[in-house]
Amino acid sequence: MGDIKILPGSRHRPPLKRPIWIILTVSFVSLLLLCAYLYPPNGDVACYVFSSKGCKALSNWLPPVPTREFTDEEIISRVVVKDILNMPQVRSKNPKIAFMFLTPGSLPFEKLWDMFFHGHEGRFSVYVHASKEKPVHESRYFLNREIRSSAVQWGAFNMVDAEKRLLAYALKDPNNEHFVLLSDSCVPIRDFDYVFNYLMHANMSFVDSFVDPGPHGNGRYSTRMLPEVEEKDFRKGSQWFTMNRKHALIVMADGLYYSRHGMKESEPEFMTLTHNRSCSQPGLDGKNCIADEHYFPTFFNLIDPDGIANWSVTHVDWSERKWHPKSYRTQDVTYELLRNIMTLDQKTHITSNDKGDELLQPCLWNGIRRPCFLFARKFYPETLDKLVTLLNF
Ligand SMILES: *[C@@H]1O[C@H](CO)[C@@H](O)[C@H](O)[C@H]1NC(C)=O
Ligand SMILES: *[C@@H]1O[C@H](CO)[C@@H](O)[C@H](O)[C@H]1NC(C)=O
Ligand SMILES: *[C@@H]1O[C@H](CO)[C@@H](O)[C@H](O)[C@H]1NC(C)=O
Repeated sequence: MGDIKILPGSRHRPPLKRPIWIILTVSFVSLLLLCAYLYPPNGDVACYVFSSKGCKALSNWLPPVPTREFTDEEIISRVVVKDILNMPQVRSKNPKIAFMFLTPGSLPFEKLWDMFFHGHEGRFSVYVHASKEKPVHESRYFLNREIRSSAVQWGAFNMVDAEKRLLAYALKDPNNEHFVLLSDSCVPIRDFDYVFNYLMHANMSFVDSFVDPGPHGNGRYSTRMLPEVEEKDFRKGSQWFTMNRKHALIVMADGLYYSRHGMKESEPEFMTLTHNRSCSQPGLDGKNCIADEHYFPTFFNLIDPDGIANWSVTHVDWSERKWHPKSYRTQDVTYELLRNIMTLDQKTHITSNDKGDELLQPCLWNGIRRPCFLFARKFYPETLDKLVTLLNF
C-alpha cells in the first residue's frame, strides 16, 4: 500500500523551484533534531539553543519507544482504574478505619487491641476472617464481627480470595476510608490517634513492593503471565497492606490480573497474575507462586506505582534470613525492642539472591521522613501480658 502511494509521487516530482531559504530552514531544523536525538534531554548541548521547556517538547516529539498493543481486557481494566483514580475524593463526615483480621481462629491479642480501640468508638470497624475455627472473643469490639470465611493456605490463591472478601465486606460501610489487613500475630505499636492520623492523612496506600532478583522473587515469575505482566513489572512484597478506599475499589474491579477465567488451554490470554497455571503449589517443585506475596505488589506497580508507599506499615524482622521471619518470645519483648521498631524510619528489603542484598530507603510519608511502622509481627501469644504492660495504651 505504502509503495503504491509513494512511487507515482517520486516519478512525477516537480523540479525544485522553492526558495532556497526553505531548504536551509529544513536542514537547520533537521540538524537540531539530530542533535537532540544524539544528546538525551538532560544533555546541555541539545538544550543549548532551546529553553528547558522547548527542549522537553522536542524530546517528547521524538519517536516513542514502541509499546505492544493492549488486549481488550487490558483496555477495559485501564479505563476503569483510571476513572476510579480520578474520582474526586468524597470525605465521609464520620470517617473510619477498617481493621481486617485474617486468622485461623481466636485472636491471642484481643485484650491488647481492646485497649487500643477503647475510647475511639465510631472511628473504626473490625472484621474477622476466621479460616479454621470459630473464634472465642474476649473483647466486645470483636463480638459478631466475623464474616463468611473459607479455608486459606499460606501462599495459595485462596489467601488472596480471603483478603478480597475482607475488603468487600469492609467496603459495604461507606464510612470506611482506609483498610488495614492484620494477622493474629500482629500487634499495634502506636496508639489509636497516631495510627488514625497517619493513615487518614496519608496520600498513598501502604502496599509493600520491591524487585527481588533472587529465586524467591523474580524466580517465581513465569512467562505464562505474558503479555499482561512482563518480568520487569513483577514485584514482591509483604501481604500485610493498608489501602485507601479508591485502591480497595480498584482491587474489587480487577478481573484481569486476578483472574479465574481461562482455565482452558485455549485461552492463554487470561493467564495472568493469579492464574492457576502461572505457578505451582508451594513446596511442589521449588518454583512456587506465593500469590499473596506477588499479587498486590505487582498489581499496584502496574496500575498506580506512585500511589503506593512501597513499604508495609507492619514491621517484621527478616534479618535471620530464614523461610519464616523472626517470631518474638516473652524474653525478646523488651522496651528497647519496641522502641527500636517504633523509631525506624528506613524501610529494609532483603533480596533472596546469594548475596541477600539489603536495600535501605527512607520512609517518606507525604514527602516527609517519618517512622515507618504502626504495627508489628510476629509475636507468640505468650507475649501478651508483657506487651500490655509495655505498650500501656
Ligand atoms: C489448578 O487447576 C487444576 C485443574 O485445572 C487443579 O487440579 C489444581 O488443583 C489447581 N491448583 C490450584 C493451586 O488451584
Ligand atoms: C514505588 O516504586 C515504584 C517502582 O517500583 C516507583 O515507580 C514509585 O514511584 C514508588 N513509589 C513511591 C511513593 O516512591
Ligand atoms: C504525596 O505528597 C508528596 C508531598 O507533597 C508528593 O511529593 C507526592 O507526589 C504525593 N503523592 C501522591 C500520590 O499524591
